[in-house]
Amino acid sequence: MKNADYLTGITTSGTPHLGNYVGAIRPAVESSKNPDLRSYYFLADYHSLIKNHDPKKRKASTLEIAAAWIALGLDYNNCVFYRQSDIPEIPELTWILTCLTAKGLMNRAHAYKAAVQENEEQERKDPDQGVTMGLFSYPILMAADILMFNAAKVPVGKDQVQHLEMTRDIAARFNHTYKELFVLPEVVVDETAAVLSGLDGRKMSKSYNNFIPLFDTEKRLRKMIMKIQTNSLEPDEPKDPDTCTLFSIYRAFATQEQTKDLARRYREGIAWGAMKQELFEYINDILKEPRQRYEELIANPKDIEDILKKGAARAREYSVPFLDKVRKCVGIQSLS
Ligand code: TRP
Repeated sequence: MKNADYLTGITTSGTPHLGNYVGAIRPAVESSKNPDLRSYYFLADYHSLIKNHDPKKRKASTLEIAAAWIALGLDYNNCVFYRQSDIPEIPELTWILTCLTAKGLMNRAHAYKAAVQENEEQERKDPDQGVTMGLFSYPILMAADILMFNAAKVPVGKDQVQHLEMTRDIAARFNHTYKELFVLPEVVVDETAAVLSGLDGRKMSKSYNNFIPLFDTEKRLRKMIMKIQTNSLEPDEPKDPDTCTLFSIYRAFATQEQTKDLARRYREGIAWGAMKQELFEYINDILKEPRQRYEELIANPKDIEDILKKGAARAREYSVPFLDKVRKCVGIQSLS
């Protein structure tokens, strides 16, 4: 088993939405098909324990995310697609790395600092109120995900860049303390990946609750698109495509040619009602087939389970012998 060329994780919380598709799923599906790349994609269900304490929601989200990735064309036979919790070597490696990671490094993590700042602003007595050790050491689990497979490149959103720097830091510390076992991963932030605006015009995100789910019914998709905020310009008044949420969504799916044409129609004063109807039809056409596959998969979770189990078996061809090497290297090994 070879090192991972590409590796990325998807936290299993929430329902996949259009923003996830254009920002993460679509580029991953593309590289999953490349026979020259060894890509690893996994469902980060241990990461989801940090915020969500509802088992039913976690299970539902895991199923939905796995079904969405498969329905949208992930080539799970070519890439390695698995669930984090099926790889027991990851939490083992996490502990080994935890014992090398400076607490001061974790003090600097954005998510932790934001929680402390919020407590201070609210003048709470304990600046660590509500902070679990899971939240605090989250970056170490992420480092283990990556280092477990010696991933060369890790495609992530901008908000994860700091975690990659920490991963490199932790890997270097291990290599220095024990032996050069770990590859220092490179972060890849795809600047060309589309960022979608949501219903209220802010970035589409589950934290703002302004997202359009990928696989709702046709009727609900239409309703959602009709709800997108626009300004009060009348039909025939020229409109600015660059500040328009409808346009940003259309552009993320359309060809350059189609986008140019639509921009021209904006300037000619396309009516909001007509634009919304057109956007709905356009997106719906793209999602029709995957939606059907998605529904079939959701109805047959066993098929998804089989795919994930096969992925885990392939991932463990790497992680089992490699963790063994790590354990020996730190002196945790058979005495005879
Ligand atoms: N923390 C990442 C996020 O919230 C998800 C993740 C977990 C991840 N482990 C990873 C991403 C390893 C890349 C590599 O988006």
